[in-house]
Amino acid sequence: MMDMNLTDETGSGPQTQAAKEAPKPPEIAPSRETIASEATAQESFPPAKAEVRGLNFFYGKAQALKSVNLTFSENRVTAIIGPSGCGKSTLLRCFNRMHDLYPETRYEGKITLEPSGINIIGPETDPLEMRMRIGMVFQKPNAFPKSVFENVAFGLRMQGEAKSSIEEKVESALRAAALWDEVKDRMKDSAYALSGGQQQRLCIARALATDPEILLFDEPTSALDPIATARIEELIAELKEQVTIIIVTHNLQQAARVSDYTAFMYLGELIEAGPTKKIFEDPSNKLTDEYITGDFG
Ligand SMILES: Nc1ncnc2c1ncn2[C@@H]1O[C@H](COP(=O)(O)OP(=O)(O)OP(=O)(O)O)[C@@H](O)[C@H]1O
Ligand SMILES: [Mg+2]
Repeated sequence: MMDMNLTDETGSGPQTQAAKEAPKPPEIAPSRETIASEATAQESFPPAKAEVRGLNFFYGKAQALKSVNLTFSENRVTAIIGPSGCGKSTLLRCFNRMHDLYPETRYEGKITLEPSGINIIGPETDPLEMRMRIGMVFQKPNAFPKSVFENVAFGLRMQGEAKSSIEEKVESALRAAALWDEVKDRMKDSAYALSGGQQQRLCIARALATDPEILLFDEPTSALDPIATARIEELIAELKEQVTIIIVTHNLQQAARVSDYTAFMYLGELIEAGPTKKIFEDPSNKLTDEYITGDFG
């Protein structure tokens, strides 16, 4: 399988014209080293936050991910796109070890979390610890049947955070999730009294409270109206300053708006990945092109 590297930023900035006139690159993305040496001096090279290497995943005998290789850059947003059933959610769930909650699931390969190099899916790695360090936000807001405050405090209590600092951390997570002003007088209300869009931001605050390194979003706005969707998209743009973001979306405009890099999957394989502009405007693979232009199947 191809080794995909998302960190090709050489097509942006002053080199754009030259890049356009250059011969078409080969289908296999250049290596990190090649890109680094070609990058202009003023371009800072985003370090990797996670490296997926030779990842296979099985539900029983059915293989849902096939030899996936992909690098996720730190403090960037990577969108994962592709038709239904291609393995997008399966890939996300590897990152926070959600599959471990179900029997007969099996990982092969590696996902290293940088800079520590810890193997996220290694049997020696504690899934609970990974769920604190790698938060996840789902399609439907899954607020707990608890108060607004307790929803956000949940992970902090699990971590054994000192009581004295819980209040402060809950407030800062709610501020980071752009929800504080709307709920600061409703801390004791049930989370279910909030609107759908507010509940989704509450789930983001809950994920942020434990100060994660990566935040996973699985179609986070598909149950929301356009205004609530725009708020979440703005929020994602702000959050990438502090956390690496991976977002699965069926909304191609959303992927184009919010992401720095885009990965296209099909039938459990990673077909192509690269800077979002490149993937949307000049994909190397015919399948990607067909999917982007709505000419698929
Ligand atoms: N719990 C499960 N048990 C068995 N097979 C599963 C399970 N979850 C997903 N699959 C299968 O794995 C493959 C990938 O599914 P996945 O949910 O990752 O796709 P997806 O790209 O997220 O699709 P969608 O866009 O519809 O959400 C599919 O063939 C699916 O049927
Ligand atoms: Mg899915």
